[in-house]
Amino acid sequence: MPDLSGKQGLIVGVANKRSISWAITQAAAAAGARLALTYPSERLEENVRELASALKNPVLAPCDVASDQQIADLAATLDREFGGLDFLVHGAAFAPADALSKPFVETSRDAFRMALDVSAYSLVALTRAVVPLMEKRGSGSVLTLTYIGSQRVFTNYNVMGVAKAALESSVRYLASDLGPKNIRVNAISAGAIKTLAAAGISGFSSILQVYRDRAPLRRGVDQSEVADAAVFLLSNAGRAVTGEILMVDAGFHTVGF
Ligand SMILES: NC(=O)c1ccc[n+]([C@@H]2O[C@H](COP(=O)([O-])OP(=O)(O)OC[C@H]3O[C@@H](n4cnc5c(N)ncnc54)[C@H](O)[C@@H]3O)[C@@H](O)[C@H]2O)c1
Repeated sequence: MPDLSGKQGLIVGVANKRSISWAITQAAAAAGARLALTYPSERLEENVRELASALKNPVLAPCDVASDQQIADLAATLDREFGGLDFLVHGAAFAPADALSKPFVETSRDAFRMALDVSAYSLVALTRAVVPLMEKRGSGSVLTLTYIGSQRVFTNYNVMGVAKAALESSVRYLASDLGPKNIRVNAISAGAIKTLAAAGISGFSSILQVYRDRAPLRRGVDQSEVADAAVFLLSNAGRAVTGEILMVDAGFHTVGF
């Protein structure tokens, strides 16, 4: 397993023990990293605090990624607590429920704006906020989570697919901007996994069976498999990889009819 000892990372997107970001937190901690976790609201604070109690010396801070002020406050907290940052994991996504059940053509302006803001623009805003902290360390690795619904139609994925397309394009533009500072920016495109976010998509469980039937490995993936690939990209082992969308999906993306 790649080594993250001596590294300090920020992980945004832990809601509960099924969160992909929580699996990444556990894998990064096992690889030796010290971690900061965020919670977007008081409602989720208790969950995140309880999970974080299993970590060694974690930092916890509020951060609704739709708020520039909260992002600025978070960067100040990390500067105070860590004095620099080696990696950022961005696992935040949101779209209003009716945008994930009605036909895509009915997507409202507000739902579109909210989905793109929370699920795509937030990567740009968070990355910008932590660049000075990564510069202090001489390098950095930024990682976000995406889904193949950015390129192909999955029933009810709708505006989230549009947001993921914007997110993946943002990965490439950020990688280009920040490469000269030795900051890498990548995404993992994960296969479908049963989580809180996935439960918000009507008919999601039928997608899981499609992976079992058609993916080359004839199965879906789990959180720990995404987390292992994440640790590779966050660590020095991934030092020449940037602007990449790494498919961790049991090969599902390779299959046509
Ligand atoms: N589950 C899947 O099948 C799957 C597949 C590919 C990609 N992904 C992506 O992985 C990422 C993590 O999702 P997950 O499946 O682990 O579900 P999850 O519900 O555990 O994680 C989504 C997170 O987004 C956070 N969030 C929502 N609005 C926010 C806001 N305004 N500010 C800060 N945080 C906010 C939630 O609190 C939650 O922690 C998402 O980007 C998701 O699109 C999921």
